Amino acid sequence: MTITPNTDPFALARSLSGLHLINGALVPAASGTSFDVINPATGAVIGTAAEGDARDVDAAVTAAAKAQKAWKAMPARERGKLVVECGRRLMDHVDELGRLIALETGKALRTESRIEASVLADAFVFFGGLASELKGESVPFNPSMLTVTVREPIGVVGAIIPWNVPLLLMALKVAPALVAGNAVVVKSAEEAPLTVLRVCQIMNEVLPAGLFNILSGFGPECGAPLVSHPKVGKVTFTGSVETGKIVSRMAADKLIPVTLELGGKSPMIIMGDADLEKAIAGATAGMRFTRQGQSCTASSRIYVHDSLHDEFVRRLKANVDAMKMGDPLDEATDIGTIISPDQFARVQHYISEGKKHGTAHVCSQLPEDPSLKDGLFIQPVIFTDLPADAAPAREEIFGPVCCVFRFTDYEAVLAEANNSEYGLAATIWTRDLKTALDAAHRLEAGFVQVNQNLVVQPNLSYGGTKLSGLGKEATLESMLEHFTHKKTIIVNMG
Ligand code: NAI
Ligand code: MG
Repeated sequence: MTITPNTDPFALARSLSGLHLINGALVPAASGTSFDVINPATGAVIGTAAEGDARDVDAAVTAAAKAQKAWKAMPARERGKLVVECGRRLMDHVDELGRLIALETGKALRTESRIEASVLADAFVFFGGLASELKGESVPFNPSMLTVTVREPIGVVGAIIPWNVPLLLMALKVAPALVAGNAVVVKSAEEAPLTVLRVCQIMNEVLPAGLFNILSGFGPECGAPLVSHPKVGKVTFTGSVETGKIVSRMAADKLIPVTLELGGKSPMIIMGDADLEKAIAGATAGMRFTRQGQSCTASSRIYVHDSLHDEFVRRLKANVDAMKMGDPLDEATDIGTIISPDQFARVQHYISEGKKHGTAHVCSQLPEDPSLKDGLFIQPVIFTDLPADAAPAREEIFGPVCCVFRFTDYEAVLAEANNSEYGLAATIWTRDLKTALDAAHRLEAGFVQVNQNLVVQPNLSYGGTKLSGLGKEATLESMLEHFTHKKTIIVNMG
């Protein structure tokens, strides 16, 4: 069966309300309870999400463990073909998924949500095509023995995902886990449970029942039992450092592997010889102003050479001023809303802290449309003249706030860029090859870019050092390292 796309996100949200997807079927929570899903642009309730607990986790994990047995036995390329087919079908739903994710997260359809939906589909196509690369090695151990390694799936993978880029971040876990021969149970983020459920529903038309299950619910009540369930053999998590540590401790009790993709406070250095025009465009994209800065790789610390600093700030502000804040579903909108009242309060707190210590350049305009008066819109802020140790300059804000600093000395700025407990991404703009390479080698980050600012894409290894996480995602190696284990087989022919 093929599900027909539904481009009315309000109707779709209602139809997906109050449900998990377990063993191929949409079912309510065992508790019979659910919680509201809110449109952050208006504050209106658009639907509900099933409130999962340990009983739902057990049902999903049990179904997954059962389905995984046959899936593991299937030739790898057959599995890959089915995952590619999932990607192909998701491609037909890009507009639908873009609209629904815009509605539940407040991310603008044209600049963010539709793009995320298409990268989601691409990630399944990419990993599906890698199925035949699940190779082992032959080992020169003893000429009278055949010694080889094979890659085996782990079993049931538990995946816990956040709300900022839920489709893509889910795909980077689910796609390689499935292709490698595992079954998956996802715990969605409280704030964005519906679009990922729709993705799971579309994929369940292609995949055997039980292989890909999705639960909604709160962290301690639904996420924690997933991590500690005895049949879950691997956990992959994206979210805050604090929760990442909790997940990691629970996994340690069972001695199972974890992958953690956590926060960041990513530096961008703009040298005096940089192409200013391109650097400004790169800083605008790198700071993810169109995603309200709700990105773990946001270039939220920007160090600009003294000779360019004032012009940079003026032109960056002009760029952001020209962006239109408004209804996320409106094609004309560049910037949507913050995800939730809690995040809204958190971002406002950092803005008022910053105003005490530095200069706030407040950008763009709040929407005038009265129907959006209760929406979680925040005007982006560029801070200058902040002390390096001010909280907005050091801590992850996850909002449309960037801190610009002036520098003159390269060694000093490199030290300052590395002076962070995070190490996710870093960028440098310079025309000098020697400086570019020196910085690329010395910046403490999992992802360094020179003279450009791309977002995460399949086949580019993604993940951090220091408190930004453990393990990389998005590549063939990530599939092999995180979703298989290596078995050595020795055949004595003597
Ligand atoms: P969070 O880390 O609490 O939530 C992420 C996921 O973990 C959600 O699905 C949540 O339900 C789950 N979770 C929470 N507590 C859990 C527990 N005890 N056991 C198992 N799962 C649990 O992040 P939150 O509260 O949404 O955002 C707080 C801050 O985290 C943000 O302001 C931002 O700084 C950072 N963050 C970073 C992200 C990234 O992409 N690296 C994504 C989301 C948030
Ligand atoms: Mg939390």
